[in-house]
Amino acid sequence: MEEFKVKDISLAEKGKGRIAWAEMQMKPLMLIREEFEKEKPLANMQISMALHVTKETAVLVRTLKAAGAKIAITSCNPLSTQDDVAAALAKEGINVFAWRNETEEEYWNNFNRILDFKPELIIDDGADLISLIHTKRTELISRIIGAAEETTTGIMRIKNMERENVLRFPVIDVNDADTKRLFDNHLGTAQSTFDALMRSCNILLCGKKIVIIGYGFCGSGLAKRAKGLGAEVIIVEVDPIKALSALMEGYRVMPMSEAAKIGDIFITVTGNKNVINEKHFKLMKNGAILLNVGHFDVEINVKKLREIAKEIKQVNYCVEEFKLENKKLYLLAKGRLANLACAEGHPSEVMALSFCNQALAMKFLVENKGKLENKLYAMPKELDKKVAELMLKAKGVKIESLTEEQREYLESWK
Ligand code: NAI
Repeated sequence: MEEFKVKDISLAEKGKGRIAWAEMQMKPLMLIREEFEKEKPLANMQISMALHVTKETAVLVRTLKAAGAKIAITSCNPLSTQDDVAAALAKEGINVFAWRNETEEEYWNNFNRILDFKPELIIDDGADLISLIHTKRTELISRIIGAAEETTTGIMRIKNMERENVLRFPVIDVNDADTKRLFDNHLGTAQSTFDALMRSCNILLCGKKIVIIGYGFCGSGLAKRAKGLGAEVIIVEVDPIKALSALMEGYRVMPMSEAAKIGDIFITVTGNKNVINEKHFKLMKNGAILLNVGHFDVEINVKKLREIAKEIKQVNYCVEEFKLENKKLYLLAKGRLANLACAEGHPSEVMALSFCNQALAMKFLVENKGKLENKLYAMPKELDKKVAELMLKAKGVKIESLTEEQREYLESWK
């Protein structure tokens, strides 16, 4: 069996340097690595994982390896692999099958390759891997102890599987750990999205009308940063509570058909499909910029945009120009996760929190082997808190603690 497949193994040295930088920033995960090195909680476990192959993911991979696991990894997105990092991992003996710009066929081939290692544990981001196991690789199910899912869209799919009674192993919901979604989704997405926008377009953001579609954990973080950058923020939401919350934060709230006419920049982050559609392209101003940071490339109807364009030009490494009847529209990263495709994804420090959860979820699954049902489990609260404590420790921050009297008061009712 082939051990790895990457774009260019000679990039390994560069990747190694970048992983070392990430390790410097990911202190809580390094503290977990120290624990894992001593305890070996994942001894001889085969983990197959589909995450963005970035320098931060490499730090997680090394941590799981330190715990005794063997790892096969591919990317959960055909555009997000950092080829130097993939090469460095391959050099370290990790079974990595990933490169930037995979075709659809290569993407699924790589998923199948990592499953050929016959995993006991799964780490997924978006649930493509879990879905593939339940449809085309069902022979693997009996040996799988469980999985952990990283993102909102993946959790939505697992919930749908649970509802339809088809889920065949336990899944830990890493996304909804507070130490994940309040930081990764809310803060990480915001910073990396504006990084992507600035790197690829280098436009002035103050004074621009930025339309954010979806005001959830990610969208509300994006709105805050956009406001801080001096933009006029417009929110498009379908949930009345979220919409009201956006309004009370001081943003304008309106339907997409109105926002389409006035926005300079449109950012989709709903986890839903066709939230920017043909009718909206027709209403947009000349020069409008469109980007998606939701998990899949379904939020902007890019297929339709290609169909109605008279001419399409690649402006730079990330931006395409679409010439329509009476205007030009600009699209980042072909409608795929722009923060990973046009920049480097979240800063390492924020990913440390997400990946501490992933590492602890793997340990939890092994410790509870045979005791869990085939359903979606919340990340245990004590582990969620442990991640926060590790980050505080890494930052040298001490916090207040309850007195016995206060604890009793909080537990009393008379
Ligand atoms: P969320 O569930 O907190 O927020 C999504 C919001 O979109 C909800 O408030 C929902 O009501 C709204 N929405 C749904 N359909 C809509 C429509 N047609 N028009 C307007 N609003 C609509 O989810 P979260 O955590 O903010 O994640 C959003 C997406 O971003 C998911 O696909 C998730 O997997 C992805 N994600 C991407 C990251 C990145 O690095 N780019 C990081 C974390 C999550």
